[in-house]
Amino acid sequence: MYGRLPRVPTVFGGLQRAARRRLDARAYAYVAGGAGEEATQRANRAAFDRWAIVPRVLRDVSVRDTSVELFGRRLPAPVLLGPVGALELVHPEADLAVARAAAGLGVPMVFSNQASVPMETCADAMGDSPRWFQMYWSTSDELVESLVGRAEASGCEALVVTLDTTMLGWRPRDLDLGHLPFALGKGIAQYTSDPVFRRLVEARAEAPAPVQPGASAERDRQPRPTLAAVRALVGMARAWPGPLLENLRSPLPRAAVETFLSIYSRPSITWADLAWLRSRTRLPIVLKGVLHPDDARRALDEGVDGVVVSTHGGRQVDRSIAALDALPGVVAAIGDRAPVLLDSGVRSGADALVAVALGARAVLLGRPFAWGLALAGEEGVQQVVSDVLGEFDLTLGLAGLTSVSELSPEILRRVDRWDTPTGG
Ligand SMILES: Cc1cc2nc3c(=O)[nH]c(=O)nc-3n(C[C@H](O)[C@H](O)[C@H](O)COP(=O)(O)O)c2cc1C
Repeated sequence: MYGRLPRVPTVFGGLQRAARRRLDARAYAYVAGGAGEEATQRANRAAFDRWAIVPRVLRDVSVRDTSVELFGRRLPAPVLLGPVGALELVHPEADLAVARAAAGLGVPMVFSNQASVPMETCADAMGDSPRWFQMYWSTSDELVESLVGRAEASGCEALVVTLDTTMLGWRPRDLDLGHLPFALGKGIAQYTSDPVFRRLVEARAEAPAPVQPGASAERDRQPRPTLAAVRALVGMARAWPGPLLENLRSPLPRAAVETFLSIYSRPSITWADLAWLRSRTRLPIVLKGVLHPDDARRALDEGVDGVVVSTHGGRQVDRSIAALDALPGVVAAIGDRAPVLLDSGVRSGADALVAVALGARAVLLGRPFAWGLALAGEEGVQQVVSDVLGEFDLTLGLAGLTSVSELSPEILRRVDRWDTPTGG
């Protein structure tokens, strides 16, 4: 009646296009891009397009309950905000705006290990609203212990260990732009705020530079400083706590980036390492990036509490199986023993409903809320997430159902191709 319009587009395609217009090329590429030819990204969406809901009629759907239980918490809907790193690329308030939006809706936020705002700051903004912490397994066990301890102290209710990124995937959009946010000091706030990490950085900065044969010839060949290099140094100085001018003169910011790059991940981790982590936290441990039923079974045998079926949004292994295609196998393997979550390709409430019908306890949103953040900060995230919750509730009711527990594969049909041209 008043002609008020939504702050951000209500459908994913429009949201992404609007964010593209707003963002600089590198920020857009970092969020939108995937591994290789982005076949997995397309497959993640195509997998949703092969399922159709068959609505039922003439059932009283006037009262509906979209809530679900997860690790002892009742959530308003089977939806979480997944870990998305380096959000300062798209909005200066970054994770803090997301934390406020999540808390406003009571939807859990998974703090990224690559966040732009320390977990304590986000936790402080969330009251007792639920949050989890996502971890990459560092080469420093001491750092892992420190991060886990901080997550517990920040009221995180689960620990998500991301296993599909022991090495960063092959991402042509970033490669072609010569862009890696972490090398510019972006997305390393969980590290620069960590006492163990800071000690490692100080030790690195104090260590005498290794003398290598041919070093002076090497120095002679070094490229002259460019504007980009100066910008990078300023970015690093900003990332390190303390006054900017002091940081510009200090070796620590650069040492922090170098330390991060050398310790953020340990590709040698195996199943044998899980017992160590299990013994160090009482939080539920959730493994993210599980796609094979045998890995899911093994995870539970090793004392893990849940898994996230995920392709990291198609950013790691190009031509890997789509997450939704992997879901039924993982659910058949462990669905009766532990919660199975899903992300990668969830764009709407209807998508969430299909995933839950196929056995997911809940879904994690990724890119959709990042685009909302880019366009309108906290309000943008708030709208994107409440749009998904609203559509989930409507779709549930319009399908003839009143609670999440009624969702099962029975309400779906497999279809050959969803987008068959109709000639219209
Ligand atoms: C820009 C960006 C940054 C991400 N950063 C992280 C991260 O720090 N940790 C992590 O476990 N997953 C990360 N992910 C993966 C997401 O948690 C999630 O798996 C993915 O976004 C799902 O795909 P979708 O957004 O296409 O639905 C990131 C994804 C994007 C798009």
